[in-house]
Amino acid sequence: MKKLFLFSAFGFALIIFLQAMPKTDTPIQPELNDEAPAIPEDVMAVVQQKCYGCHNAESKNEKGKEKLDWDELESAKKGKALATMKKITEVLEGDEMPPEKFLERKPEGKLTDEEKATLLAWSSGKKK
Ligand code: HEC
Repeated sequence: MKKLFLFSAFGFALIIFLQAMPKTDTPIQPELNDEAPAIPEDVMAVVQQKCYGCHNAESKNEKGKEKLDWDELESAKKGKALATMKKITEVLEGDEMPPEKFLERKPEGKLTDEEKATLLAWSSGKKK
């Protein structure tokens, strides 16, 4: 009989304890807006001049087109856009784009420090 009492007392305490727990069943809100923010105009101006030629759907540069298509990036969902922006940050930080071979023929295609800073500020989300 004593055992039964202890058992039910414990059960009762457990119920009280669970009732007192903070509620954790608030529904998880799905991301309402998963569109990537538009690429700023100053960034697109640099891209048009220095990157777009090789990185668009109609580009004759097969490898460049395959790796990055700015038109696609503009309409990409946030997750995909962020992954691409990370890649862009990497190539900019490593001075890998435009490709060196191309710059040997067309040195004016090189990014100025200002242009690079503009692209990096956008792609990395850090201020210039
Ligand atoms: C002359 C053509 C050309 C220009 C101009 C050019 N790229 Fe590229 N880009 C390429 C090619 C080719 C590749 C593929 C390189 C490879 O796979 O080795 C590439 C690859 C990339 C990649 C993908 C890297 C990876 O590892 O996935 C990024 C990001 C990129 N370029 C960004 C840029 C940016 C930003 C600019 C402008 C500042 C630019 N590119 C200008 C030809 C170009």
